Amino acid sequence: MSDRTRRILVTSALPYANGPIHIGHLVEYIQTDIWVRFQKLRGHECHYLCADDAHGTPIMLRAEQEGLQPEQLIARVWQEHYADFGDFLIEFDNYYSTHSPENRHYAELIYSRLDAAGHINRRVITQAYDPEKQMFLPDRFIKGECPRCGTPDQYGDSCENCGSTYSPTDLKNPRSVISGATPITKESLHLFFKLADFEAMLKEWIGSGTIQPQMANKLNEWFTAGLQEWDISRDAPYWGFEIPDAPGKYFYVWLDAPIGYMASFQNYCSRVGLDFADFWNPDSGTEVYHFIGKDIAYFHILFWPAMLTGAGFRKPTAVNCHGFLTVDGQKMSKSRGTFIKARTYLDYLRPECLRYYFATKLSDGIDDLDLNFDDFLQRVNSDLVGKLVNIASRCAGFITRRFDGRLAGTLAEPTLYADFVAAGDSIAQAYERREFGRAMREIMALADRANQYIDEKKPWALAKQAGAEAEVQTVCSLGLNLFRTLILYLKPVLPGIAAQVEQFLQIDPLCWADLATPLLDHTIVEYKPLLQRIEMRQIAAMVEDSKESYPAAEEVAQPAGHLASDPIGPAVSIEDFAKLDLRVARIVKAEAVVGADKLVRLELDLGGETRQVFAGIKSAYAPEQLLGRLTIMVANLAPRKMRFGVSEGMILAAGGGGGIYLLSPDSGAEPGMRVK
Ligand code: MSP
Ligand code: ZN
Repeated sequence: MSDRTRRILVTSALPYANGPIHIGHLVEYIQTDIWVRFQKLRGHECHYLCADDAHGTPIMLRAEQEGLQPEQLIARVWQEHYADFGDFLIEFDNYYSTHSPENRHYAELIYSRLDAAGHINRRVITQAYDPEKQMFLPDRFIKGECPRCGTPDQYGDSCENCGSTYSPTDLKNPRSVISGATPITKESLHLFFKLADFEAMLKEWIGSGTIQPQMANKLNEWFTAGLQEWDISRDAPYWGFEIPDAPGKYFYVWLDAPIGYMASFQNYCSRVGLDFADFWNPDSGTEVYHFIGKDIAYFHILFWPAMLTGAGFRKPTAVNCHGFLTVDGQKMSKSRGTFIKARTYLDYLRPECLRYYFATKLSDGIDDLDLNFDDFLQRVNSDLVGKLVNIASRCAGFITRRFDGRLAGTLAEPTLYADFVAAGDSIAQAYERREFGRAMREIMALADRANQYIDEKKPWALAKQAGAEAEVQTVCSLGLNLFRTLILYLKPVLPGIAAQVEQFLQIDPLCWADLATPLLDHTIVEYKPLLQRIEMRQIAAMVEDSKESYPAAEEVAQPAGHLASDPIGPAVSIEDFAKLDLRVARIVKAEAVVGADKLVRLELDLGGETRQVFAGIKSAYAPEQLLGRLTIMVANLAPRKMRFGVSEGMILAAGGGGGIYLLSPDSGAEPGMRVK
């Protein structure tokens, strides 16, 4: 490893601005943050950039459902994401948004350069169109019966039952997920990026060690299949940047998303006085790394280097892919409570536990990694509490109580300390190569040696022997010096604990160069516990809290069963009953909720006042069947915040066994009438 200071720019993928950060995302942000902190600890110039990915159809529709402008939605989500990352000790140098003037500037610049160089094609295509909502439908917004096996409720691109892929026009009885209407086909002019122009460049680029071997294989498959033109435009209504010379057409979200890396960097440059060109001009001599999940490799190792090259910018030094997180061996699941949001985790556990656990599991490959709760508890308790923290807690008391906090002036066993320092090269190499699991194993092997040393010397026994006073001090001082080395090695993973230790040892923030000089003749302060053991009940409570809460209406619409199997509940007084304000309501709007299989969003007219209610009745009623109907609602139910918006009441339905039956008053009833 040379001493030359490297200049490095690092990014993580930009999370979509329509949902919360969850522990799956965190694999990536923790991996990247560890690597960045390592580079900084080594004394290199390293800049870590990210942003919210704030454009696209799902964000547009989500805002609409919540009754917000897209700008309002993305501003709120930005705050949430930023707080989640901060509390997980993920330290971005700049966290920005793709909905920014800098991003518009670079998107337009790259597009116009590609166009001027002849890399953009224009042609008319035919697509599915929602005649009611008056918009073109992305494949994911069309559902119908699989053309091959007939399974109902399949997306427009592939069947979950038989796995066949097809185009949305092949679906039987297709429906728009947004309005329920039957899609028609419609023509429109689209803009395409001619990816094949860059085939030779891409082939050379992947051969130069820029991507992992598994990804290079994937890429070769794509080459064999042939590089298709990439559709970079979308028709209005769309939430994004309008294309300058094509009114009514917008850049597809995936065009401006990676450009968001540049935009965030530009924004940072203006703030701190760096030069944008130093990192983005060809042959700049600096390094650029993108950390991403393997699901978005196509965009990062094909389109992105091609766009950059076509527009006269440099290509990334490397694109680092990681695998997907599973929990207890399965995909994260809302019903099992394993779809754990970053915020929910933080309500129960310290961020460092997950950071350490992921570090033990991460490698430079793209294999999926599993969060197994037993293993998680075991790793954290035995490694961090049992081995690491234990070293300090066994040595510190003697130093503060007997020597006024003063460490000895010499090292009891210089060779042992030298071994710890020498291990740094291999640990650094493991970090550099993203073999974090190996780094953690090597560090914990050192922790074992430190504990062995203390076990052999037994300072607690020495303390009782006459004349062994000096030895107690040197043994415990060496123990604390070994501990300091371990904390330095773990600082990229455990920054919060490292800060606590720096305070306890009364030292400046540790950096790699500090290895050379042990702490001698130095005063420390009283030791305070650094980390508590994890209890299984904390994990159980976190999982319980993560179980998807169903909307109130859904609970009512699907009661346990028929009268015979469902005994009458306990008596309530007439006063209790009178607390319920039941009203006749007219359904004035009904639409399917994108992303929720059971929910319909209703707008209810209460005779002057309109309420939004989410009801779990989609399996029994198509939105258009509900329109105009009268029903009964609980009008004074406390509003309930759901994933899709606020539900301001509940409608009544009977159910059990197979069906759901909405209650309606006899004809003649008027919206707003009280039910008694
Ligand atoms: N917005 C795009 C990225 C644009 S980058 C120019 C996107 N966003 S995302 O929110 O869906 O995902 C963000 C990152 O988190 C991606 O790299 C994705 O692979 C990663 N992960 C999301 N779920 C994950 C797991 N369950 N496990 C590991 N990583 C996961 O994609
Ligand atoms: Zn099928």
